[in-house]
Amino acid sequence: MKITVVGAGAVGASSAEYIAIKNFASEVVLLDIKENFAEGKAMDLMQTSSLNSFDTKIIGCTNDYSNTKNSDIAVITSGIPRKPGMSREELIGINAKIVKEVSDELIRFSPNVILIIVSNPMDTMTYLAYKTLGIEKRRVIGMGGALDSARFKYRISEALSCPSSDISAMVIGAHSDKGMVPLTRLATRNSIPINQMLSHETIEKIRHETKVGGATLTSMLGTSAWYAPGAAVSSIVHAIACDQRKIFPCSVFLDGEYGLSDIAIGVPVVLGKNGIERICEIELDKIEKNMLSESASGVNKTNEILKEMKII
Ligand code: 2OP
Repeated sequence: MKITVVGAGAVGASSAEYIAIKNFASEVVLLDIKENFAEGKAMDLMQTSSLNSFDTKIIGCTNDYSNTKNSDIAVITSGIPRKPGMSREELIGINAKIVKEVSDELIRFSPNVILIIVSNPMDTMTYLAYKTLGIEKRRVIGMGGALDSARFKYRISEALSCPSSDISAMVIGAHSDKGMVPLTRLATRNSIPINQMLSHETIEKIRHETKVGGATLTSMLGTSAWYAPGAAVSSIVHAIACDQRKIFPCSVFLDGEYGLSDIAIGVPVVLGKNGIERICEIELDKIEKNMLSESASGVNKTNEILKEMKII
């Protein structure tokens, strides 16, 4: 199993590290445009292999896509991260061109690759890749919902003073501060609905903290986060590589599911060896449906910019 990670910045390197540590892939190719940067990160990571007991070979390269040839899965983290006070949507001008170029190159060398999109604004970058590559929608997967759900579980576990492994919870909708839809009604601690254990005020606080999860870290770190994004990427890659058929909320192109079309947005999907094996259409209540529809309007507005840029 060969995995490529494009972009050796914090999120890319963290993704490569977690993929390697989980020890399911034979090879990880880390590619960056900055001379010798990915090579350095790969060497540093390889020097952890005896300490962290993994056999995955990590290879770094500078912008030479021939090294990525015949990758099974490729992760696109390229582009600029947001700075404190910025929204993910503000990155579109620079990141759209980069994601377009990177995805074209990846497909040229690996026509059957499954793409995981991390670059922001993530739902719009997923839409861009799907619309311009002409490949099956099962092969273009936006990572955001897996990350946002992990942040949601963290916040619930903190409120309940329990380990997050006890929590089952999901965030659907856009990977944006306004557009995230944390499904508080369906969140449970070991099958017990959280609304039987937490007050309405606490649940609303969790909802808010989840939605601004990325922005909170950006203001603390001066740039966007990387450990949880890298862990979310590695979990998605693991599910596909090992045909786990686990459910994650991911951004996927919709053709009428949830009443939405011509948009990529976060909904629960089953991930397996073919990428998206199935979109799960769960029943939402009226409030959740409205939140998802508002979230989709926001994504559609950002997608319009791609048309104005004449990139799609
Ligand atoms: C985040 O939310 C990188 O968008 C990513 O941290």
